[in-house]
Amino acid sequence: MLNVVIFGAPGSGKGTQSELIEKKYGLVHLSTGDILRAEIAKGSEIGKLADGLISKGHFIPDDLMIRILNAHLDMYPTANGFIFDGFPRTLTQAEALDTMLKNRNLKVSLMLNIDVDTNELVKRLLNRGKTSGRSDDNLQTIHERIQVYETKTLPVIQFYDRQKKHHRIKGTGTMEEVFERICNEIDSVNR
Ligand code: AP5
Ligand code: MG
Repeated sequence: MLNVVIFGAPGSGKGTQSELIEKKYGLVHLSTGDILRAEIAKGSEIGKLADGLISKGHFIPDDLMIRILNAHLDMYPTANGFIFDGFPRTLTQAEALDTMLKNRNLKVSLMLNIDVDTNELVKRLLNRGKTSGRSDDNLQTIHERIQVYETKTLPVIQFYDRQKKHHRIKGTGTMEEVFERICNEIDSVNR
């Protein structure tokens, strides 16, 4: 089993790289952002709550997010492994992920931290905003997302540092170049 946490600021390329990892390694891609956007599209109660929070760049409460992820883990009993994209985003979520995996005799194999500077993040997200239709791809919300990332999410790096699972990836260059760096790190732990 290979369980990858793909980590990074908004716009760092988590979704893009997750799709490439999914294809090459045959893992199940769980993106909490995609899960929430699907709930919004369905018009569910979760979707109604998520809609307002996402468009402001704020997080969905930990307890709800953890319950949603736990339910999604149960949907794939025969998975070869998972890519966790956009989860964990807080220390509470990081601890919960360890517990949820432990309960299934699983663990995080490695955490890939895609490192991209703020100017480039803003540029990428504004550019995506021209076509994405995402309510959070506008300048004001982009700044809020980056600020929330810095205050609430950055401490998660130390959590994986302490477990010796943190692998920093230079996130600039072409998508293919970033993917090659990622594969090198995955292959170094997955032999
Ligand atoms: P989520 O959907 O996870 O959004 P995010 O973290 O803000 O990140 P993005 O999806 O915008 O960027 P990405 O890193 O996936 O980059 P991408 O590959 O798309 O979360 C959205 C919201 O949901 C949160 O703000 C929160 O409200 C809520 N939420 C989600 N999870 C939660 C949780 N666990 N707890 C609480 N709340 C939660 O790439 C970005 C752009 O750059 C694309 O246009 C892409 O084509 C381009 N690009 C990619 N790679 C490159 C490259 N190498 N060079 C140039 N361009 C590139
Ligand atoms: Mg994404």
